[in-house]
Amino acid sequence: MTERLRGEIHRPRGGEPDGRWLAALWRLERRCYPPGLAYSPEMLAGWLSDSATLTLGLWSGDLLIAAQISELGTGHLITLDVDPRFQRRGLGRRLLRITLHLLRRWGGHRRTLCEIGAKNQASLALHRAEGFSIIGLLPGYYPNGEDALLLTRPLGRV
Ligand SMILES: CC(C)(COP(=O)(O)OP(=O)(O)OC[C@H]1O[C@@H](n2cnc3c(N)ncnc32)[C@H](O)[C@@H]1OP(=O)(O)O)[C@@H](O)C(=O)NCCC(=O)NCCS
Repeated sequence: MTERLRGEIHRPRGGEPDGRWLAALWRLERRCYPPGLAYSPEMLAGWLSDSATLTLGLWSGDLLIAAQISELGTGHLITLDVDPRFQRRGLGRRLLRITLHLLRRWGGHRRTLCEIGAKNQASLALHRAEGFSIIGLLPGYYPNGEDALLLTRPLGRV
């Protein structure tokens, strides 16, 4: 596939969530996670109306094909989604690197944290390759009872 992708950074100003981003993120979440594990529209709307949240998106026309939500206020990574049709082309890595750069530059953070499913080999491989270390186990973290691993990475050299 040779689609031309467009990158956007969304920073809410407070108030109502942006309807275009909300619909696109909800669609992408459902493409990336099995039922019950995708974030709900209510949770996505909460992040999209929170001015301390940063969302990066890669769009192909009107379709959001990859996104990362993070908290500029805390330096915490919330989610990273790449549409299955576009996986394994370096898009997840690209979004992660930009997010880390912005958490450092705009948020002033020296360290970031994220939770990853203990069985999520793709995400664990990506984050470990990008300098994250596992620092803890969160038993039963997900709604389906699966464990998560807690990972961290310094933001000194992003
Ligand atoms: C995890 C995810 C975001 C990776 O995105 P991606 O765009 O496919 O990843 P990239 O192409 O940037 O891969 C970068 C590196 O990550 C690792 N990686 C990515 N997918 C992998 C897989 N399926 N198996 C093993 N390693 C993988 C590899 O080291 C890869 O480098 P390489 O291609 O040079 O070998 C994507 O698989 C996804 O959206 N999964 C569903 C949602 C999810 O689990 N999100 C993470 C929540 S914490």
